Amino acid sequence: MKILIIGTGYVGTTTGLIFCELGHKVTGLDLDEQKIQALQTGKLHFYEPGLEALLKKHIDSHNITFTKDTETAIKENDLIFICVGTPQGPNGSADLIFVKNVAASIGQNINHYKVIVTKSTVPVGTATLITKVIEENQTAPIPFDVVSNPEFLREGSALQDALNPDRIVIGTTSETARTIMRELYKDFDCPIVETHPKASEMIKYAANSFLALKISYINELARVCDNLAINVKDVSNGIGLDHRINPHFLKAGLGYGGSCFPKDVNALIQTAKEQGNPISILEAVVKVNADQPVYFIEKVKQALGSDLKNKTIAVLGLSFKANTDDTRESPSFILINRLLEEQATIKTHDPIVKMGAPHQFPTIEETVAGADALVICTDWDDYKQLDWESLKPLMKQLYIFDGRNMIDKEKVEKLGFYYFGVANH
Ligand code: UGA
Repeated sequence: MKILIIGTGYVGTTTGLIFCELGHKVTGLDLDEQKIQALQTGKLHFYEPGLEALLKKHIDSHNITFTKDTETAIKENDLIFICVGTPQGPNGSADLIFVKNVAASIGQNINHYKVIVTKSTVPVGTATLITKVIEENQTAPIPFDVVSNPEFLREGSALQDALNPDRIVIGTTSETARTIMRELYKDFDCPIVETHPKASEMIKYAANSFLALKISYINELARVCDNLAINVKDVSNGIGLDHRINPHFLKAGLGYGGSCFPKDVNALIQTAKEQGNPISILEAVVKVNADQPVYFIEKVKQALGSDLKNKTIAVLGLSFKANTDDTRESPSFILINRLLEEQATIKTHDPIVKMGAPHQFPTIEETVAGADALVICTDWDDYKQLDWESLKPLMKQLYIFDGRNMIDKEKVEKLGFYYFGVANH
């Protein structure tokens, strides 16, 4: 099939490359000249393990090309995936400006039957909206179908996730489009959920919100466990082994961040409100998530003293989780901003994120030098096996605050450090 991917972010680029792996010819369209130039030369404009090698492979074999030419790209392709951003609007709902612009371009340039697929996370009713915008922009009534096919891959493991999905969701009312989508995904060995576009759009929000709910649940439980000196990791393990609960997304930490959970939970809250059926449980999820860094800062203040003015704090990790350079809604920045409000001196480190961080140092040693405390914010592997013996003489005071419960508490305590985790007893 000749496939057009509109929007070359991590979802669009990964999706396009997976289709190349399945033997299709793919065009990536983006209005951002710099992104297109980088991708054409086999360079990713974001960090995602394993993806650049796949990009180079399919560029070399001419399976994927990138362009800024909207008209030709739409005319020459039969299957169009919309992978543009749907950022959070001012009232919490998703801003569909980019989706609407794409739909208008499709309407203006459609020259024969096409299937238009939304991969972007879009609110319930967007398939209908896209249909309307395309129709309004057509000069002649050329037939097309709109399909909702949400993506469930995670940043940092995008390739693995996209190649091994738990399920594929196809939302359409058209038999023709359904047949094309079944053919596209025929090599995947996972359940295919075929449903109405509205249900498909809801599945994506419901999935992300449920995962966020699990995280907020374990985080709030962790605070109680902390008071009772219970190790929350044991509790996660003990409940996660129940297959009805499962062990995933039960790691207590500093709260969820990223470009998806915060935005998608808010958008579902907004959708529910608009329908007159507020989902109060999700409002609690957001509140618990906002409170989690505050709970952690309190730990720092209890240990170091409430006045952080003359304290130097080394913050390890800036991305919202390991294996990505994405810092959107990163708990690290929430923590850093709070510490700066308390007038602490901040030194930061990240193995991949290099831009825009205050007081960033290239090595861990330089970051912790002279620090009163070290705070681990991101679960990078680099921080799991730190050489604590060599870091010890560099620090002014030996406080470790482990926001990811990833350090061997016994080991560091034996070396003389004071260790504080998220109910990591
Ligand atoms: C999330 C979903 O997991 C994907 O299925 C979805 O496709 C994606 O959003 C999206 O909508 O595009 P992502 O935001 O890349 O993926 O990252 P996650 O691995 O889900 O982590 C989100 C946040 O939750 C991170 O800050 C992470 O550190 C945190 N988290 C995750 C925890 O605090 N505890 C956990 O047990 C798991």
